[in-house]
Amino acid sequence: MEKDFLALSRFSKTELDAIFALTKELKQKQKSGIEHHLLKGKTLAMIFEKSSTRTRISFEVGMYQLGGHPLFISGKDSQMGRGEPIKDTARVIARYCDGVMIRTFAQATVEEFAKYSSVPVINGLTDLHHPCQIMADIFTVIEHKGGYEGLKFAWVGDGNNMANSWIEAAAIFGFDLTLACPEGYDPDATVLEWARAKATSKIVITRDPKDAVKGADVLNTDVWASMGQEEEQKIREKAFAGYQLNEELLALAKPDCVVLHCLPAHRGEEITNGVIEGKNSVVWDEAENRLHVQKAIMATLMK
Ligand code: CP
Ligand code: NVA
Repeated sequence: MEKDFLALSRFSKTELDAIFALTKELKQKQKSGIEHHLLKGKTLAMIFEKSSTRTRISFEVGMYQLGGHPLFISGKDSQMGRGEPIKDTARVIARYCDGVMIRTFAQATVEEFAKYSSVPVINGLTDLHHPCQIMADIFTVIEHKGGYEGLKFAWVGDGNNMANSWIEAAAIFGFDLTLACPEGYDPDATVLEWARAKATSKIVITRDPKDAVKGADVLNTDVWASMGQEEEQKIREKAFAGYQLNEELLALAKPDCVVLHCLPAHRGEEITNGVIEGKNSVVWDEAENRLHVQKAIMATLMK
């Protein structure tokens, strides 16, 4: 097992399935009020160089529920924000803390941090990946559909960090994934190449959202402009017109499909209010499952 949780591609199906099994156990214990202090006395540094609601709160509460202590560190208020080298910060934090969660821009930053850190480092989102979110998403699918085997997954929108991590997941777990992305907004080419070389399943990129959602069991979308791309909002609104997860697209999927969105959502852009609030939407379970799945990830890496 890898020391760090930086991208799904570093893990086997067996290792990730074990995290889902622990997630289920920890969720049941938390719901029944059974103490599960697997990380008693341990500390987690949480470094944020981008905004967050779910990631911050779920890691912070999760660490508390595991009997440990979380520390919130704002990138700009620490010496990192004044240019202290990553490799120095990483070595120092590892002398105080038992684990680190980082949300930042470049994937190279978390990779370098992990290289110099003697304690586990967890990727809480980079421009390239959002592995904890995809683990929560798949766990939500397992809860609602009884598993992920044989299901057809669809992605509509930007080939962003979420899309990249979904592609890695499809290759590892072996489910079919079709992504509808406008030209110029495809997922990362290296991620796609890795996944297609490994996958036994179909991983398809199309320009037509209808192709992607037809007969799908799981529909997924995300914002058109991710954090750090705010200045491209207007250009992106034009490029992504026609890539909205709306009632018309939903009608082409299986009637009992589930709709996922990592949140925050922009209603009227990538998803309609009717779809996110509709009967197929499981976005609140999905958000809750960030807590349970990340507890399992932390317990697995930091125990
Ligand atoms: N989905 C997600 O990562 O949300 P936050 O940006 O609020 O952490
Ligand atoms: N793709 C989005 C996900 C937010 C949780 C972003 O990176 O801003």
